[in-house]
Amino acid sequence: MQVVETDRVIIVGAGLGALYAALKLAPLPVVMISPEVLGEGASSAWAQGGVAAAMDMADSPESHAADTVKAGAGTVNTTVADMVTREARDYILDLTTMGTPFDRTSDGGYVLSREAAHSFARVVRVKGDQAGAEIMAALIAQVRDTPSIQALEGTMARDLEVTDGRVTGVVLQEADGGRSGPVLLRGSAVLLAGGGSGGLYALTTNPPRIRGQVIGMAARAGALIADAEFVQFHPTAMDVGEDPAPLATEALRGEGAALINKRGERFMQAIHPDAELAPRDVVARAIYAEVQAGNRPMLDTRAVLGEAIKTQFPAVAEYCARNGIDPAKEPIPVAPAAHYHMGGIATDTQGCATLKGLWVCGEASSTGLHGANRLASNGLLEALVYARICAEGIAQTLTDVTNAAPLDITFPDGGTPPAPEAVQALRQTMTQHVGVVRDRDGLTRALATIAGLEAAHGDSPSFLNMCATATLIAAGALAREESRGAHERSDFPETAVGPGQRSELYLADALAV
Ligand code: SIN
Repeated sequence: MQVVETDRVIIVGAGLGALYAALKLAPLPVVMISPEVLGEGASSAWAQGGVAAAMDMADSPESHAADTVKAGAGTVNTTVADMVTREARDYILDLTTMGTPFDRTSDGGYVLSREAAHSFARVVRVKGDQAGAEIMAALIAQVRDTPSIQALEGTMARDLEVTDGRVTGVVLQEADGGRSGPVLLRGSAVLLAGGGSGGLYALTTNPPRIRGQVIGMAARAGALIADAEFVQFHPTAMDVGEDPAPLATEALRGEGAALINKRGERFMQAIHPDAELAPRDVVARAIYAEVQAGNRPMLDTRAVLGEAIKTQFPAVAEYCARNGIDPAKEPIPVAPAAHYHMGGIATDTQGCATLKGLWVCGEASSTGLHGANRLASNGLLEALVYARICAEGIAQTLTDVTNAAPLDITFPDGGTPPAPEAVQALRQTMTQHVGVVRDRDGLTRALATIAGLEAAHGDSPSFLNMCATATLIAAGALAREESRGAHERSDFPETAVGPGQRSELYLADALAV
């Protein structure tokens, strides 16, 4: 295999964590591995709600941490929650300095949205529902202006090189096109910031490429994976037949939008005292039950927003328009869809994985912040905090940077892309058997199906990475014989007594289940 050596830090991914880490590493040289043009195809750019931070005088980091711990259903690392929420405000100020046009009140404060399970309105937003895209745009402009950062657009990572227990390089290929032969890139350090796993499910809000490849790649290289079974299903993906499903942001419910069924009943009122603003896992299960019962759940914004949805939530209004829905006149059909992976590559408080020389931030990581159910809008916040921590940790390890010339990689022909029918079969299996409600029979069947697909299509490293993550999720879900947060077992409906345990799994153990 062709080998390219560089003293640049290799950052796999191009979402918020990847961009922010690259900027915090500057002027140390970085190469970003981005499957698409920067800003496209990353989950961060699709985030609607915003970033959670205690910005209001009446609010506090302690309250934010308490809500994070409560939503996480007993498995949140409280040290991590305290640290992340304490620093949140600084990141909002930093993003503002970097050019993010946060929505402002008439007296110059930040407009704050209310989202489920938050005690206060504390989600800073941009242009209503376009926080992810706007924050990304501001950071991309900075990255483009930073000479130490090179973005290899159109490339993807498929394997890690591990030498004597230390990650020393990343095997790359072209993201699309015929030349998907491998090139091994060896750098001074490796940071994985390549997103989660939502696209492993047939129903997802994640961009099409986000299919657990980065978590799978690390697991195949021997990294420990934590809390794999904790997958968050967003309650209100639009049920309009699109893949991926467009999101109807939770901030709509924060504004007072109601969840109704085809009979016009507000079904959340009977389920939880906070009704539509109950924790996300509770709302997702309630909507799932309505779907299963054929009750056609819908999000009704008519009374609270009317025509104003078009100016206050332009992205949602646009998704509705392209599907022939006028939300000022009719409710929006919704269903739960895989949205965020709380589990991922186990990291310590410094963002280090169990393999030496490997840092991880963002959704690919499992820092312990989210526990079994992520509090809304804590995802972008975690990506920012750990991107900075990882950048600082990496910078401390770099001594002699002499070989940082811009990289010019020509990929050879060859390689096998994932077979589309195998990917679809994998996604259907995950939605059917490893979805909102799980049981032993379904999980066992899913593991057998994944193993069969892997055996038949194992010549594609990218597909192997997807199968590895799918296996870890299903095996973790099978092993956790309780219901907790987003992990619901119909055959074990109770939550185990006592403090929740973080689950830890190596791929070899998951494959042996
Ligand atoms: C939303 O806007 O509803 C999603 C926000 C999040 O997932 O944190």
